[in-house]
Amino acid sequence: MVRGIAAKRLSRSIVTGATTSSLRSRPAARTKAARSRCPAPNRKDTCTGRITAWFHCLRDPNAPYCGPGFKLDFPQSAGNCAACHLPAAAEAAPYDTDPNMVTGVGRESVACDFCHKVWSVMLDPSTGSPYPNTPGVLSFELRRPPAAQQFFAGPYDDVAPGDDTYVPLQNQSQICAPCHFGQFWGVQIYNSFGEWLASPYSDPVKGQTCQDCHMPHRGATLPARADKGGLTRDPKAVFSHLMPGATDQSLLQSAAGLAIEASQSGPLIHVMVTVSNDKASHHIPTDHPRAIYC
Ligand code: HEC
Ligand code: HEC
Ligand code: HEC
Ligand code: HEC
Repeated sequence: MVRGIAAKRLSRSIVTGATTSSLRSRPAARTKAARSRCPAPNRKDTCTGRITAWFHCLRDPNAPYCGPGFKLDFPQSAGNCAACHLPAAAEAAPYDTDPNMVTGVGRESVACDFCHKVWSVMLDPSTGSPYPNTPGVLSFELRRPPAAQQFFAGPYDDVAPGDDTYVPLQNQSQICAPCHFGQFWGVQIYNSFGEWLASPYSDPVKGQTCQDCHMPHRGATLPARADKGGLTRDPKAVFSHLMPGATDQSLLQSAAGLAIEASQSGPLIHVMVTVSNDKASHHIPTDHPRAIYC
């Protein structure tokens, strides 16, 4: 049962495709206790809430170690956190937007109007990934409509340019890249995109996009209400926006393969547990370093 080896409990990362053996898992009870002391944010929190929790966690002497903290080292700097976490607010000042100071619609974090105003992403042609030190909004080209008009960049190629416009990037993993790849002064922090790119899952024919796994189809045939102009479509063209992550039980249960072999010699039973990352397309865990520390 894969649930018993929840990714965050593994003591080291499982690299895509590799098979590892004898992985130790932290005792479940300890991990659970640690989580309950740490004000771990739940899925519905805003990103700002999560970042505040992160700082709180670092300052609470009873909280477990949750990794390094930007504000501990640079208390006077706003940092670049908002470039990915609060992109609409950070667009005008990517390195000068303190998440705790953002008000109004900018607090909406990664919202509809951000992703559906993306026109293109800037990637380094020699690597296929975003350039270093250009997280989030620094690697997106966005489009804005003229006053009193609408603009929605969408995934359907039969939509004539107008308020709604087809943008092929919407169907590609590359739209996720600027926020799911972060390299700063030679140090890789976030890299689910880079890991995916290096894996067989990035094959344009046989592979799978981020959307295929994180925006799973649920059988819906209407991308918008029929009385608002929504046209019936193939359910495979309607992507949910669930974005399940490592707290999603069913995603985790289908993430890794587990094989257990036991043999007895005298009074001893030898158990060999093999965990293989055969379904995640990137490392387990991936992206935020806290996934490994906490
Ligand atoms: C390159 C874009 C990017 C930048 C810059 C960035 N983040 Fe993140 N952050 C993400 C993404 C994507 C996730 C979600 C992936 C994950 O949880 O593994 C995330 C998750 C987090 C989480 C949740 C981790 C968890 O396990 O729940 C915290 C806390 C966080 N970031 C804090 C920060 C802080 C503080 C900064 C600034 C010092 C920052 N981030 C800068 C992209 C970014
Ligand atoms: C993280 C970026 C992101 C956010 C936030 C986001 N979308 Fe999407 N949306 C996408 C992508 C990517 C697709 C296309 C998926 C594909 O075709 O592979 C899409 C597809 C759609 C579609 C076409 C039908 C479908 O479901 O595939 C509609 C309509 C839509 N989004 C509306 C919204 C609305 C409304 C919101 C806010 C509630 C929203 N989106 C938030 C990225 C986003
Ligand atoms: C503008 C930046 C941005 C873009 C674009 C973006 N993400 Fe994220 N994503 C984030 C941040 C920030 C978080 C962390 C949110 C939080 O912890 O509250 C996150 C979290 C996630 C998570 C983890 C959710 C969880 O519950 O742990 C998944 C999965 C994810 N994103 C997938 C995607 C996919 C797939 C795409 C492309 C279709 C995408 N993201 C595009 C910034 C972005
Ligand atoms: C073949 C399916 C598959 C594809 C393709 C895929 N993922 Fe994942 N993803 C998973 C699974 C399974 C997990 C849960 C295990 C883990 O954390 O690695 C996951 C977890 C995540 C998380 C959550 C990390 C956390 O700690 O909360 C993020 C963020 C994420 N993926 C981003 C991406 C991005 C961005 C892409 C595309 C570049 C992508 N994934 C492509 C299956 C996939």
